[in-house]
Amino acid sequence: MAENEYLLDIQDLDVSFEARQGPAHALRGFNISLRPAETHALVGESGSGKTVTSMCIMGLLAIPPGRVNRGKAIFQNRDLLQLTENQRRKVRGKDIGMIFQEPGKYLNPAYKIGEQITESLILHFQMKKKAATEKALELLSLVGLGKNRRVLSSYPHELSGGMKQRAMIAMAISCHPALLIADEPTTALDVTLQLQILRLLLKLKDRFGMGILFISHDLGVVKDIADRVSVIYAGKIIESATKNQLFENPLHPYTKLLLLSIPDAAKRGGRLRAIPGNVPDAENIPAGCSFHPRCPLTEDVCRAEIPPDIGYGDGHTAACFLIGKKWIDS
Ligand SMILES: Nc1ncnc2c1ncn2[C@@H]1O[C@H](COP(=O)(O)OP(=O)(O)OP(=O)(O)O)[C@@H](O)[C@H]1O
Ligand SMILES: [Mg+2]
Repeated sequence: MAENEYLLDIQDLDVSFEARQGPAHALRGFNISLRPAETHALVGESGSGKTVTSMCIMGLLAIPPGRVNRGKAIFQNRDLLQLTENQRRKVRGKDIGMIFQEPGKYLNPAYKIGEQITESLILHFQMKKKAATEKALELLSLVGLGKNRRVLSSYPHELSGGMKQRAMIAMAISCHPALLIADEPTTALDVTLQLQILRLLLKLKDRFGMGILFISHDLGVVKDIADRVSVIYAGKIIESATKNQLFENPLHPYTKLLLLSIPDAAKRGGRLRAIPGNVPDAENIPAGCSFHPRCPLTEDVCRAEIPPDIGYGDGHTAACFLIGKKWIDS
């Protein structure tokens, strides 16, 4: 088999949940690819399918009620969706690390931070306890907590929010994963801490050459960290481009509206517009273009047909019938 040039290549991922009112179509067949050492941001509003995507990649999607209808997630030439639970456990934490919005949910309250960091070193690298503890201290220092034995012997509740976030990052990178999945890692933090954590992630990325799938609802944060951005709406990628392309030449009306709602744009004199309405429930996806009920440009074709992904050069894709025909002035 030819080597895949991508570190992670998600192809046609389609996932639904069995819900009481019928199936909830959470992910509706989309592609995302991430090159080694690239930071690819997956951006979208609440309920758009970001966490379901990360759960699929990590092999943490509960089946049932979840169901993968179609698709592949090729990582290092293996389809993550076809691994056995045993194989997944080996990949998780070792080849793919993850960090979440709320470290409190991820860190185990019953174990000291040191035990939690050394656990995967002992499991994946068969390190002896003493060597693993030394390595844990180095990791703490790397994430800005210093070579601090006190932190190692603390329980999660004894640390501040920012320290917990750093400790979780230390755990996630302990085995030098090739891919780090960061699901809203800074959303719960104040602005200063947010910046510190973003800088830390970039530093670690450069140091270890990790690819990062950076999940966020906040294009302002994405602007600071991403190389490439994919915008997700109602379980589909509606636009994907390099960061510069996306911020300088957004094509999809949804992306344009998201950009207009970044506070900075308002400060620079643009209008601050929240997008009226909400992302549709996965159980109730509108026909045609799923964004049409909220789109200021909607025409008949948008209500009737799902727009295909069209390439606009240099890997910039967007799915909208009206690109080039209509635009929003900003
Ligand atoms: N276990 C489940 N059963 C039914 N529907 C689900 C389940 N998990 C997720 N969904 C649905 O899938 C869709 C995507 O959810 P997801 O959690 O991925 O959103 P998100 O983009 O991560 O949102 P947020 O920004 O709020 O974290 C939503 O409509 C959600 O209701
Ligand atoms: Mg989420």
